[in-house]
Formats: sequence, C-alpha cells, structure tokens
Amino acid sequence: MGKSIAIDGPAGAGKSTIAKIVAKKLGFIYVDTGAMYRAMALYLIRKGIARDDITGIKKACNDADISISYEDGRQVVLLMGENVNDLIRTEEVGNMASVSSTVGAVREKLVALQKKLAAEKDVVMDGRDIGTVVLLDSRCKIYLTASSKVRAKRRYDELTAKGEKCDIDRIEKDIIERDQRDMTRENSPLRCADDAVKIDSSDMSIEEVADAIMEEAKRKL
Ligand code: DC
Repeated sequence: MGKSIAIDGPAGAGKSTIAKIVAKKLGFIYVDTGAMYRAMALYLIRKGIARDDITGIKKACNDADISISYEDGRQVVLLMGENVNDLIRTEEVGNMASVSSTVGAVREKLVALQKKLAAEKDVVMDGRDIGTVVLLDSRCKIYLTASSKVRAKRRYDELTAKGEKCDIDRIEKDIIERDQRDMTRENSPLRCADDAVKIDSSDMSIEEVADAIMEEAKRKL
C-alpha cells in the first residue's frame, strides 16, 4: 500500500484544483475518481441507455473497459482504450454520472480500480467516498467543503469567463439538489469520515487551502 491523501467533499468545493497542487508538491499521483464515473457515464450514453434504466445500467457497466494512464503527470482516462478526457466534462455526461454512480455494480467496478491504483502508488485521490470506502485506512483524510453560495459563485465565474450566459440562482439551486442526491443516496453517500479533517474553503484562497492540507500531510504521513 502506498501513502495516500483522501479528499472528499461536494461538487465545486475545489477538490481537484487543490488535489493537483498538493500532489505536485508531494510528488504523488493525482487520481480524479469523478472522471472514472464520467467515463462510465459516457459509455452508457454511447450504448443508448436511458438515465432511468437502472437494470440496463447494471448490465452494461460490466462490459465497460475503463483504465487510467498518465501523460506528463496528467491523468488520462481511457474508455475501451480511447482517451476520453475531453469528452467527459459536459452537462449531459455529468447528469448521467450523477445517476449511474448510485448503482452498486458501477461503484464496485470503479472502487476496485481505485484501490488497485492506491496499492501501487502514492496518491492524492479525490471523490465522494474516498475516506469512507475506497481508502478506509488512509492516514490523511480531508473533507473539503464550502457554502453553496460560494460554490455557485465560483461556477458562475468559470462559465462567464468561457463566455457562457448563466443564472447564478439557478446554479445554486442545482448545487443544492446535487448535494442532496449525493448525501442521501443508499450506496456510499457523501459524508465526512469520522477521522477526516474538515476544511471549509468559503473564505480561504487556493493557496491557503493547499497549505492547510500540506500541514496535515506532514503531520500524518
Ligand atoms: O466530481 P465529479 O463532478 O467529476 O463527479 C461526477 C459524478 O460522479 C458525481 O455525480 C459524483 C460521482 N462520484 C461518486 O459518486 N463517487 C466518487 N468517488 C466520485 C464521483
């Protein structure tokens, strides 16, 4: 088993940004587990499976070949051998992932892949169930959160910078709904592990959050 930092938290809390910085500083590999759920969602969409067809999702997920490789230190998600990094960041894929990630068979398959990665390498892994399921024995667990207002503002700024028109209240409403879904689902709901350190990034800069996690890592690893 390699060394690990497990980072969980709701969408938009800044997990991936921070995890990448911390991984670089420590020379660990960054594992984005959300990207694996998104690749699975893309597979299901390509198979023409509807979001509410849970039986179809259960059956089809077994045939999806998802793997991870690294190019210049950047995680590449491979679906049936194809690099799908640039295809999984859409709303359509995100919405399918939000549903298909509640299916036990999907989680079992991807959790096995995540555990294998952490067994072979030192990792900073982020997701929703890393400290509570995937890396239960990790010595450094972080629960990163921020208020729904702040997370909506961050998303709004991101979209506006890309020239997309959007409504901040609508975004906040979506965030609250998604939190609700992630936290109340039966399979591996999002929650703060008992032995995790909780960080609220609402009033913190990226550097401040990264520094706080580095302190934890130094103390615990
Ligand atoms: O973090 P993200 O938006 O890329 O995640 C995509 C979806 O996958 C999201 O609905 C939550 C889900 N997910 C999960 O259930 N467990 C994880 N470890 C990571 C993501």
